[in-house]
Amino acid sequence: MCGIFGFVSTRELPVALVVDALRTLEYRGYDSWGIAYATSEPVGERLAVLKQAGRLPQTLPPLPTSPIALGHTRWATHGGVTDDNAHPHLDCRATLAIVHNGIIENYRPLREALEQAGHHFRSSTDSEIFAHLLEDSLQRARRVSESTFSGSPGLLVEAVRQAFAQIRGLNAFIVLHLPSRQLVAVKSTSPLVLGIGTEGVFVSSDAVALVGHAEQIYYLRDDEVALLSPQGPRLFDRCTGELRQPQWEPLTLRSADTSLGGFPHYLIKEIHEQPHVIERILRERLDGARQLAELIRHSYGTFLVGCGTAGYAALCGSYLFSRIARRHVNAVIASEFKYQEHFLTDRSLVIALTQSGETVDVIEAVQAAKRRGATVAALVNVTGSTVARIADFTVPLSAGPEQSVLSTKAYTAKLAILLLVAHILNGSDHVGIDVLWRAIDGMELAFAPATLDRIRAVAEQLVNAEHCYVIGRGLSYPTALEAALKIKEVTYIHAEGFAGGELKHGVIALIQDGSPCLVFSPLDETRPDILSGAMEVRSRGGWVVGISPEPDEAFHVHIPIADVGDASPLVAIVPAQLLAYELAVRRGLDPDKPRNLAKSVTVK
Ligand code: F6R
Repeated sequence: MCGIFGFVSTRELPVALVVDALRTLEYRGYDSWGIAYATSEPVGERLAVLKQAGRLPQTLPPLPTSPIALGHTRWATHGGVTDDNAHPHLDCRATLAIVHNGIIENYRPLREALEQAGHHFRSSTDSEIFAHLLEDSLQRARRVSESTFSGSPGLLVEAVRQAFAQIRGLNAFIVLHLPSRQLVAVKSTSPLVLGIGTEGVFVSSDAVALVGHAEQIYYLRDDEVALLSPQGPRLFDRCTGELRQPQWEPLTLRSADTSLGGFPHYLIKEIHEQPHVIERILRERLDGARQLAELIRHSYGTFLVGCGTAGYAALCGSYLFSRIARRHVNAVIASEFKYQEHFLTDRSLVIALTQSGETVDVIEAVQAAKRRGATVAALVNVTGSTVARIADFTVPLSAGPEQSVLSTKAYTAKLAILLLVAHILNGSDHVGIDVLWRAIDGMELAFAPATLDRIRAVAEQLVNAEHCYVIGRGLSYPTALEAALKIKEVTYIHAEGFAGGELKHGVIALIQDGSPCLVFSPLDETRPDILSGAMEVRSRGGWVVGISPEPDEAFHVHIPIADVGDASPLVAIVPAQLLAYELAVRRGLDPDKPRNLAKSVTVK
């Protein structure tokens, strides 16, 4: 979470370039934004800072040019969403500005010590501590060397190394040092990418913000510090301070198709893209699926790990492997994995499911797996991401950029690949391919005007609901959880997904007159039991919406879906995604940027 970006150049570049980069990085958080740059207007060299709580405005007053600047888009961790807490943060003398992604875990004692030493804090963030720590380290380093600071770039690196060594947690910083007109970048787990282009040197949380600026990039490592001066970057070992030679690689990313393509929001655009994504997987990812199947075949214990929507894809995967391949594959929420890692061996296989490839809980899970000698595979959408780089084997999701904060097409892409892999393991590749082609047609049914009318009618009915329950059994249980997540995160209606069989064990106490309940009922072995559950809800006054290939007397409203056998989770989720979208629009909410969320969850 939090997007950070900076540049330094031999020439004056438009500071607006940082603002544009922040727009690209806004998916990492949009609680506040801010920039800092060197200026000599109106008199004397100084740092100019512009920062504000809230999202980046569509238009800003004209910005000047500068040879050095940095910026930040925030997902608040420590300190409220206020102008003062927006980054960049300065030291007491305003000679350096820092932007930060992460959490300084030991910020309390550090802040106390710094305040006692006379440092003046302007915010209540953990981040500002780094500016003051660095200020102290610089003074110490200067005293030790007895040289003038600005002439000695090594001192700045030394000071950053010392300051960074004092903090705990997963953090990435860019520091702008005004007297030497240099940037320093340093990190632990949180990503930072350096870029060199004809106009200057750049650094960003994500390579996408370097497109159009850099030709060569380098993913900074945790044991390195980068000093970026107008003449170019230099890399140092973070422990020893020794100079290192980075292996630069060409930036192959192109500016993604980020247009809305005629849709009013990315969420609805991405929901509609799902049939094309599955088609692309069938055309491009069969080899990858076959190789992953081989890894599973030869592993002794396979674990699917993911968070949120990706965690539900993992759970669905475990049902698919059981029913199609007769194989026990474990599904574990990535943030819980480290508490269950003890039985991993060098024969285990851990498959990380992640759209962004930057989710810190997933990164920690795969790092734990690696420490225990396990093989790591990943189903990941962002191919240059941290998880993609850690994994021994990757199957790209091919979903294209997912810009809405809600994950939709990456979810069904993961399900499609897992279903293919399960069929390959079972030796029934063609059945898997056929069923996915049927699912592609099946998904389109959700977009048919008659289906959309029913979904919209349900949205009208639910628009002022406070609670909503969702049930499914077997393969549809993860669908129920995912449908509830989609509804709650974008509409703020309290939506809960349950295994249908759990109703009688407590959940049914929640049902009262008019309680909305979505019921997933594909034509599989779960149908008789889930319909009984639906009837029990109805008998207690619940308002039942059936998402099913066939109507039933238990349903007040029937939303039809295609009957596509084991691919039912791919088609059943689409009406629920559409319902979540329609509800958000009716409740006057932004479907692409729900409150408190960010697309890339890089903090714990
Ligand atoms: C929900 C959603 C989140 C993500 C989760 C994992 O719509 O987007 O639950 O699925 O934060 O993110 P990735 O897949 O990037 O690891």
